[in-house]
Amino acid sequence: EKGGYPNFMAKEINEQPHAVADTLLGRTDETGRLVLDELRISEDDLRAVDKIVIIACGTAAYAGMVAKYAIEHWCRIPCEVELAHEFRYRDPVVNERTLVVAISQSGETMDTLMAVKHARELGAKVVAVCNTHGSTIPRESDAVLYTHAGPEIAVASTKAFLAQITACYILGLYLAQLRGGTYADEAQAVMKDLHEVPAKIQQVLDGLDRVREIARFMADTRSVLFLGRHVGYPVALEGALKLKELAYIHAEGFAAGELKHGPIALIEPGQPVFVIVPSPSSEHGLHGKVVSNIQEIRARGARTLVIAEDGDEDVVPFADVVIRVPQTPALLAPLVTTVPLQVFACELATAKGLDVDQPRNLAKSVTVE
Ligand code: BG6
Repeated sequence: EKGGYPNFMAKEINEQPHAVADTLLGRTDETGRLVLDELRISEDDLRAVDKIVIIACGTAAYAGMVAKYAIEHWCRIPCEVELAHEFRYRDPVVNERTLVVAISQSGETMDTLMAVKHARELGAKVVAVCNTHGSTIPRESDAVLYTHAGPEIAVASTKAFLAQITACYILGLYLAQLRGGTYADEAQAVMKDLHEVPAKIQQVLDGLDRVREIARFMADTRSVLFLGRHVGYPVALEGALKLKELAYIHAEGFAAGELKHGPIALIEPGQPVFVIVPSPSSEHGLHGKVVSNIQEIRARGARTLVIAEDGDEDVVPFADVVIRVPQTPALLAPLVTTVPLQVFACELATAKGLDVDQPRNLAKSVTVE
């Protein structure tokens, strides 16, 4: 069942090129236009949407945070992301023109389900982004966009995360296409880029021996920090979550810009810090700022583990370790930069002798509030 892998998690991490490719499959016609027949919400209703609210828990919420950057950029529709259990109890501003996107691998998470029901009571249209056919959240939603990651057995989510980002991107690009004009042109261009991502994920997977070696070496580590900016910020949060869930190590993710406002006080000699570096060619121009952050923490003794694009030489003088990922458009980068962090957590937990598929105290789907 595990296909020769030591555990389901290792198998699922390695299935990610397929998880993304299969989620993209059949969503465009021969001209490259997105066709989402399954989205049973009328084009008129979708055109009327003036606000998007993404609700989810855990890893799925981080997929939502990534999607917010992309959806607002592509569609110019305000997009919020909220933990489902907070949304439900907070008197949120939601109405008929709000599109609520509920992300859930299992489709059974009670917190998310309750938030879906609440959103519909308030008149919103709800689209579920879900990996499990016939599950409750899609049934209780107006429409569903399935992620085709295949069954995810390991409790902590890996391939479903990449598939959730992919599905949310498809939804965002579809909304952009509905807006027409330059929005539609960009949607087509991004779809082309997305189709190149599975091969890039494979390339990352093929080059992770050094990450595995480092993870094994770090089995006694007490605390690890993760820094990222723009879409790298939710990736940092997800990297930290994987380490907590799998290896029971205290880990925190921060927005790199926040470093100077507090977290830099945590840096002491030997503190391991992963930094997710944006592409030097990103139009947001944040590369230099993040490189400066690496320099700042290194000067205070941090052990810097830097995830950077092929050809980015600026990071080299300040990195104890450079983990390379292929050149990828800025908004698609999470689909490649997350992978080394998953492998790191999985390998470190394995080195500690832990059960990576069934971490203590966790359940695959939490069906109580
Ligand atoms: C948690 C799982 O209980 O629920 C996480 O341990 C998961 O891995 C979260 O991300 C949300 O689950 P789902 O099925 O709603 O995506």
